[in-house]
Amino acid sequence: MTADSPSSPVIAGNWKMHHGPAAARRFLQNFPRERSTEPPREIIIFPPAVSLPAAVAAAGSTSGIEFGVQNIHWEPEGAFTGEISAEMARDAGAHYCLVGHSERRHVFGESDREVGLKVAAAAGEGLVPVVCVGETLEQRREGRVDEVVVRQLTAALDEISEEEDPMHFLVAYEPVWAIGTGETATPDDAAAAHGTLRRYLEERIGEAAAHRVPILYGGSVKPSNAADLLSTDQVDGVLVGGASLEPGSFAEIAAA
Ligand code: PGA
Repeated sequence: MTADSPSSPVIAGNWKMHHGPAAARRFLQNFPRERSTEPPREIIIFPPAVSLPAAVAAAGSTSGIEFGVQNIHWEPEGAFTGEISAEMARDAGAHYCLVGHSERRHVFGESDREVGLKVAAAAGEGLVPVVCVGETLEQRREGRVDEVVVRQLTAALDEISEEEDPMHFLVAYEPVWAIGTGETATPDDAAAAHGTLRRYLEERIGEAAAHRVPILYGGSVKPSNAADLLSTDQVDGVLVGGASLEPGSFAEIAAA
């Protein structure tokens, strides 16, 4: 965080394909309600879509936890077996939506253009997109980190129209080689990539607006490294996969 960063650090948990409705309820019953960090943390959980209503209900209206979905389709409805729309996600209790997570890009072949369409669909429905970008190990070795993350972020924002609120989104820098591997980017690596993304946003949407966009770091964040990452220049929060599945470790990260 820096002096002119967005005010509350964001602690986001991506459950991926873990925790059905019953497990989601158990998690929320066991996640501590009292949080006394200063500044307070903004907590967002991304359960599987089928668990979202159960999670929202179990958290209740006073938990201070926000929820999101891990993916949407860009069309509002239609013959797209297995997909959900932004409107359906919102109706089920989501306020946020991950878009372009590296598993969507690399396991399911999602393209930069599809990411852009999804960001626009989310923004058009009032869901706040969390745009995920990040380089592979090969791209890092080739010295292409800046080029890759700027290309991904450019495409992600390209489909947003004037009427939508292009200022209200988050970015998550998640180097592909750090996701689920136990490898974490060093604070210097994270600060460099976050700095690149911030400068790009400054050029694109202006300095003041760019500094209101939280840029999260993700990739093997755990209780033991969360404090270091959260105190890194330009890191406004964390997106946590594996370590968000257990209420105790996610609470420790939220308190870091
Ligand atoms: P990880 O996942 O924390 O398990 O590395 C992060 C993510 O994929 O968002």
